[in-house]
Amino acid sequence: MQPEKAHYFATDCLTFISKIPGIPALMSAMFEVKDKRLERKLFGLTFKNPVGLAAGFDKDARWYNELAHLGFGFIEIGTLTPKAQIGNAQPRLFRITEDHGLINRMGFNNLGAEDAIKRLKDRKTNLVIGGNIGKNTATANEDALADYVFNFNTLHDYVDYFVVNVSCPNVKDLTKLQDTPFLLNLLGQLKEINKTKKKAKPILLKIAPDLNNSQLDEVIEIVAQTKIDGIIAANTTTSRENLKTDPKIITKIANGGLSGKPVTKRATEVIRYLSEKSNKAFPIIGVGGIHSAADALEKLDAGADLVQIYTGFIYEGPALIKEINQAILNKMGES
Ligand SMILES: Cc1cc2nc3c(=O)[nH]c(=O)nc-3n(C[C@H](O)[C@H](O)[C@H](O)COP(=O)(O)O)c2cc1C
Repeated sequence: MQPEKAHYFATDCLTFISKIPGIPALMSAMFEVKDKRLERKLFGLTFKNPVGLAAGFDKDARWYNELAHLGFGFIEIGTLTPKAQIGNAQPRLFRITEDHGLINRMGFNNLGAEDAIKRLKDRKTNLVIGGNIGKNTATANEDALADYVFNFNTLHDYVDYFVVNVSCPNVKDLTKLQDTPFLLNLLGQLKEINKTKKKAKPILLKIAPDLNNSQLDEVIEIVAQTKIDGIIAANTTTSRENLKTDPKIITKIANGGLSGKPVTKRATEVIRYLSEKSNKAFPIIGVGGIHSAADALEKLDAGADLVQIYTGFIYEGPALIKEINQAILNKMGES
């Protein structure tokens, strides 16, 4: 089955079986690790455990109520844009199994922030839900700020934290928004808007693993200046280095963001750099190539406070969430 079709098939099956009485409780019993020691308190929120579902899996907030039974400590919906958009032409999601990776160029396909609210109003889970926001592809970078502000205002009452996504390689020139003056202005404005709301919502910035050290230094400076709540490191990479898959296949797949095992090392390096260089000045959510409990522990050791999974979840299934949580507990027991 084509990977994108498989995605909808699997998640629709999950929704279907979740309607059978007793199944959600059974899934929770199978996958959840209930232990107070896994709880994490960050930016005013309490996470049941530090293992989250990364953005892009449930872009439109269709399945988060059902996914909540698989043992996650939090779920990030989005990337949402102000207007609905179909994204790039299909096929746009490719498995490179030899490398345990995915290449995608979805291009922010989503039904729009206002549409997502319909389903966010029907929240049946007490898990922390993050809202990842972006700009429409048709919006020029000069006008991007208004898109982020629109999403922030629209979703403010319905999500627990926000992620400003300027690091997706599949929307033309989006990664150019990682530019410091733009981010200082945008994040500063979102912080100001937060002050006008009943309850301020934490704001995180999601960065690409392709930033070099001097760009990472700028990220540290941006967090210091804007006082946002943290960083998500990292998004997919445009690099195609050190792959086992036949280069002809890689060339044929063409553009897209690479995720999974091939990004494990680089994502960890970025987390370690940010954590060490900033003297652990802000929380970091570590994501990129977590396919085993050991991979997750490595991210936490490098300085991540929470982790997220996407490609590892596709390859390993929900058992991975439980494995990671149990490994964290085992490690706590040892020390
Ligand atoms: C098919 C696909 C779609 C994605 N869509 C988004 C997205 O909409 N917004 C976003 O911030 N990240 C998106 N991501 C990136 C993931 O959230 C994550 O940062 C990246 O895949 C690295 O983690 P992983 O190796 O565990 O997959 C997407 C990833 C994949 C594979």
